[in-house]
Amino acid sequence: MTAYRLVFDHLLTRVDAERAHRWGFGALRAAGPVMGPVMGPVIGPALRGGGGISAGTPVSALGLRFPGVLGLAAGFDKNAEGIDALAALGFGFVEVGTVTGRPQPGNPRPRLFRLPADRAVVNRMGFNNHGAEAVARRLQARHERRTRSAGPPVVLGVNIGKTKVVPEGDQEAVLADYALSTRLLAPWADYLVVNVSSPNTPGLRDLQTVERLEPLLRRVRAEADAASAERRVPLLVKIAPDLDDDAVQSVAELAVVLGLDGIVATNTTVSREGLRSPETAVHAAGAGGLSGAPLRARSRAVLRLLRERVGPDLALISVGGIDSPEEGRVRLAAGATLLQAYSAFVYEGALWPARMQRALTVAAGGTP
Ligand code: FNR
Repeated sequence: MTAYRLVFDHLLTRVDAERAHRWGFGALRAAGPVMGPVMGPVIGPALRGGGGISAGTPVSALGLRFPGVLGLAAGFDKNAEGIDALAALGFGFVEVGTVTGRPQPGNPRPRLFRLPADRAVVNRMGFNNHGAEAVARRLQARHERRTRSAGPPVVLGVNIGKTKVVPEGDQEAVLADYALSTRLLAPWADYLVVNVSSPNTPGLRDLQTVERLEPLLRRVRAEADAASAERRVPLLVKIAPDLDDDAVQSVAELAVVLGLDGIVATNTTVSREGLRSPETAVHAAGAGGLSGAPLRARSRAVLRLLRERVGPDLALISVGGIDSPEEGRVRLAAGATLLQAYSAFVYEGALWPARMQRALTVAAGGTP
């Protein structure tokens, strides 16, 4: 058991989960400017046996070079405030967001809970974020900083979703909302993800039906092309694990027909089946999306279904219950192009991404 896990199990689980996230992420960002010199000696050996910080075996996907196969899933850095600090921990890519067209506070607190007996998290954050305009300004400032002095190599994904007050039944308003985010954010994104799979925005997951998804993805594609004329921004869709197999296959076929660049699978689940946590703890957490270890089996199954349907070329980012190098290898063998995690980072701590990246480097036959 790592020291972090001991502290986590005995101390951090007693602190409100959202407050712990704010403290942890705040400390990480504050350390950002000195992260290279301070963390280099710690993380460097964990990755390559010495030298500076780098993130593992490079992967070519989406027309980009990912410095490592493991990235941080959406929801951790909702407002693009800590991309480079997170990259310095060893993540090869960071997906910021979900960002919505307009700023919004999200759901009332408490809205984030841990189920330690299941190594799981329940959240009903509800897309609390600063909105596309503020996040675009932040990304532009980062871009300008990085043209003056390069930061750690990292691929930046931007995940966009629907503003809550936009009525989900008004297709034109929904398209306009996603289009606004696309216009503002595509110029700064290495890749863009259309999120239609969070359980915490009423009606959002209904957008996963082909009839609603097709016009949405076409519109986002067109806006992205108009907003970024000199570079085609890769476009992906993120889906829920709660779609049945037929619906997963329909999305896969649509992705191929539309010439989408990839699929992120999966988001959190509304299921509470098979949990070890006491019924009282599950009940106390209440509604929301469940992530972490209990998601593993379905996330694997969705990946296999998708790879079977889309053929070898489309990029598949597998996410959901990835918490060990063994699980990472299972996903890569099942056809994942890239991996993401969120819950395991919460449970295992700041050194976990580098440890994973190193283990996966060795697995991929790279130079340790
Ligand atoms: C998430 N996730 C998420 N996904 C997304 O597309 N947009 C978001 O804003 C969020 N927000 C969010 C908040 C919190 C607290 C958690 C735990 C998760 C889902 C996340 O990106 C991922 O798909 C799932 O958590 C499954 O991966 P893990 O956690 O099992 O590795």
